[in-house]
Amino acid sequence: MNDTEKNIGLIGFMGVGKTIVGRRLSTALNREFLDTDAIIEMTTGKTISDIFAQDGEKHFREIESAVVRDVCSHSCAVISFGGGAPLNESNSALIKESTLVVLLRSSLDTLVSRISKNTKRPLVSGTGIDFRERITAMYAARKGIYAGLADIVVDTDGRTADQTVAHIIRRLRL
Ligand code: S3P
Repeated sequence: MNDTEKNIGLIGFMGVGKTIVGRRLSTALNREFLDTDAIIEMTTGKTISDIFAQDGEKHFREIESAVVRDVCSHSCAVISFGGGAPLNESNSALIKESTLVVLLRSSLDTLVSRISKNTKRPLVSGTGIDFRERITAMYAARKGIYAGLADIVVDTDGRTADQTVAHIIRRLRL
């Protein structure tokens, strides 16, 4: 697939803003918007939290891989990938081949504060003293994988969602 046909995919840790930036980027570029978590919820009729609670993470990851296969078969779309989607090697191979990958990053403080305000993330739900430590450990384990897949890296701290979108458009020369 040549670069003009490729999708633009947003990856990064939970709470970094992939969905809002993805939706606005798709509007700005007049492209189809696909969000793997939203597709999973729509096709199963369950929330992500319910899938984790009732069927377990393994089952969630199987559904997620099927959705990644599907979205990667599109072209010219803007795709927000769930934070865990790139961790599986066959998912990341499909993403790499079909998609210009934008890694969104923010500081740990920003991630912790956003994630703690949202109860929809079963992997890191809860509070307590170890909350920040769990996020720190998970982020440390993932950041190399995210960086290895990224075509460009965009820091979102100090930028509004619209500024991030404008920055991505400039960096990708779209
Ligand atoms: C996950 C991230 C979530 C969602 C699920 C698992 C992860 O998506 O797919 O809770 O493993 O990082 P967001 O990154 O959109 O929060």
